[in-house]
Amino acid sequence: MALDLAGLYQRLQAEQRPMLPSGEHRAVVGCGYVGRRLVSGWSDEGHTVTATTRRDSRLHQLRSHVDQAVLFDSEATSNDLSFLGDVDVLVVSLAPTGQQHVCVEAYESVYRRGIEMLCDGIANRHSNRPLQIIHLSSCGLYGNRDGALTSEHMGLDLNHPVNALLAGAEQQLQSLRSEAINVCTLRLGGIYGPDREIPEWLVAAAGQCVERNGDHVPCWVHVDDVVQAVNLAAEQKLNTTLNVVDDIKLSKRAITDQLCEAIGCPPVIWMGSSQDERILHAAISNESLKDLGFQLQHPSMLQWYLKRRAASV
Ligand SMILES: NC(=O)c1ccc[n+]([C@@H]2O[C@H](COP(=O)([O-])OP(=O)(O)OC[C@H]3O[C@@H](n4cnc5c(N)ncnc54)[C@H](OP(=O)(O)O)[C@@H]3O)[C@@H](O)[C@H]2O)c1
Repeated sequence: MALDLAGLYQRLQAEQRPMLPSGEHRAVVGCGYVGRRLVSGWSDEGHTVTATTRRDSRLHQLRSHVDQAVLFDSEATSNDLSFLGDVDVLVVSLAPTGQQHVCVEAYESVYRRGIEMLCDGIANRHSNRPLQIIHLSSCGLYGNRDGALTSEHMGLDLNHPVNALLAGAEQQLQSLRSEAINVCTLRLGGIYGPDREIPEWLVAAAGQCVERNGDHVPCWVHVDDVVQAVNLAAEQKLNTTLNVVDDIKLSKRAITDQLCEAIGCPPVIWMGSSQDERILHAAISNESLKDLGFQLQHPSMLQWYLKRRAASV
């Protein structure tokens, strides 16, 4: 039977085509642990995606997940940031990757030089296109608040040089705010999730002496909730600062005691910390985020870990 191609074309044209969501151009500067998860979700949703890395060796790997992979290195004399010209959503997710110990020079390179290069690139865009910047910062900035309940309105502890650099990065990006540019600062807790099994690292110290203060209250957030918060900021075009942490407000000692007891190990022995250590000791509030309708997928790092553990045995 002869194919009636003309009739087929007519039928196809008459049919309603599925509408793709109107895609934006979204970019992640510093496409590491969080960035990888952001870009894979955005590609699935039909956005055009750009991502940066410092390493040639990662460019090729990134290219199979994004439309455009770009080298960006705060140590380079120049970087091609021309992609900023037509970006709608820009996530700044830079961190001095792979530091075993705090190295102030590495933080300085990323949070002073890197952020300055990026801000110059944004200021020199030849476009008035609306831009949503989402900066992934850290609750570490609140420093030592003696474990007090801490919202976004509380002062920052800039005594440690790393905190001063992080606060400078926040301010530099926020200073870009204009009619066309929104800046949302998300202050994150310590990020955990698959391949970043923080509870596993904590219980690895069971029965051993650790040269840290166990009575300090840190904060945590699952990587899925970071992704969810970034997407909320993009969708609601937020122009504010928000803490992004889970619901746990326990000291390190209380967390490790609960974990060790649940899996039948002796507790960690906390020995105290040295004077110049960077401290976070604050019960960080996530109320502002929840007031925007945000629901944590993982309210408790402890529950997340214990459920995973139970499922794997
Ligand atoms: N991890 C945490 O617990 C935590 C806690 C609070 C806040 N945060 C914030 O959350 C965001 C995401 O963290 P993450 O854990 O996903 O970070 P990550 O995996 O360490 O990725 C960091 C990214 O920054 C890039 N980078 C490192 N040094 C650079 C330099 N000198 N110049 C240019 N780029 C550089 C890395 O490049 P390569 O691709 O070459 O590695 C990588 O793409 C960061 O903004 C971080 O400050 C993280």
